[in-house]
Amino acid sequence: MSDASYLRLDKLTLSYGQTVAVRDLDLSIGRGELVALLGPSGCGKTTTMRAIAGLLTPTSGRINLDGADITRVSANKRAVGLVFQSYALFPHLTVFENVAFGLRLKGMGGRDLEAKVNGGLKSVGLSNFAGRKPAELSGGQQQRVALARSMVMEPKVLLLDEPLSNLDARLRLEMRAELQRVQKETGVTMIFVTHDQVEALALADRIVVMLNGGIEQIGTPEDIYNRPVSAFVADFVGFENVFELRDGKLKTADGTVELVGAAPRNAAGLAWRPRAVSLGSGPFRGTVRGMSFAGNTREYLLDTPLGAIKAEVDATLPAHAMGSTLNFDLPVAGAASLSRYG
Ligand SMILES: Nc1ncnc2c1ncn2[C@@H]1O[C@H](COP(=O)(O)OP(=O)(O)O)[C@@H](O)[C@H]1O
Ligand SMILES: [Mg+2]
Repeated sequence: MSDASYLRLDKLTLSYGQTVAVRDLDLSIGRGELVALLGPSGCGKTTTMRAIAGLLTPTSGRINLDGADITRVSANKRAVGLVFQSYALFPHLTVFENVAFGLRLKGMGGRDLEAKVNGGLKSVGLSNFAGRKPAELSGGQQQRVALARSMVMEPKVLLLDEPLSNLDARLRLEMRAELQRVQKETGVTMIFVTHDQVEALALADRIVVMLNGGIEQIGTPEDIYNRPVSAFVADFVGFENVFELRDGKLKTADGTVELVGAAPRNAAGLAWRPRAVSLGSGPFRGTVRGMSFAGNTREYLLDTPLGAIKAEVDATLPAHAMGSTLNFDLPVAGAASLSRYG
């Protein structure tokens, strides 16, 4: 086993009855890595996590962890921790006893247990809450208890399935930082599921973008954000102007449109973020159909022969009136080059 494939999924196919939810998934995760599974609802994120945790037997393929084939190993013998969106704490037990629960099942007691649980609570900043019941905690604090409960078991991999989606925006930010800190301090290998690209970009060492039960792209946050490989990933990370290329020209609803610069060889498509569209000059013309003010910027929706175009410009520039006609450019240098369009 190399550290770079501490956890390895080989051609993993996962089904519910006749329904295939994940097909031929290959993924290698390094020891100590924080990997985000990112994708829309129903793409197979939870199914993949359940298989890693041992809660779902693969139809085919293998799972390797720390040098051992665990495909047929039962869930409680895998050393894989799982934290869900719902915290599933025992309401009648104190915070201390919730965190101690799994350790007691393993036969731990006395001083050892106390030291371990207190260490876990300290690592998530809950040392002063050991005697409380879950109902006396905020959502964020409950989520920390769930995290501590998994961490004290010293899992080889910790799986978190949309752990922050029940929290309000401010708490989510706080917990995001907390997760990152705990992960870096303990070095635990972590897989984090989210449908929120901002969360994935902020947290992960590497992002796995999933679609329809398969992997669209694997890369660093910078790769995914700046160099999406497909139209789907581009759209998902905010390139709102995505075009297929045909013979080096942009494909539109009723033909093709010539670009000013040459498109990169082998590109199947080009994509521009709204701020990469230059408004005011250029070979194309569009009519302002919508405008929204966003503080530092204004976003325009243009009706153009290319279809609808979204452009974002500095709000200190004079505003363009609704219905006015403007020139604009789609500079090739500012585009992401897609190797796959479909
Ligand atoms: N228990 C189940 N029985 C049948 N189909 C399921 C079950 N759970 C999930 N699915 C299907 O498997 C696919 C993947 O689901 P899931 O892994 O939960 O997606 P995600 O977590 O990415 O939202 C979806 O099409 C979903 O409808
Ligand atoms: Mg899910």
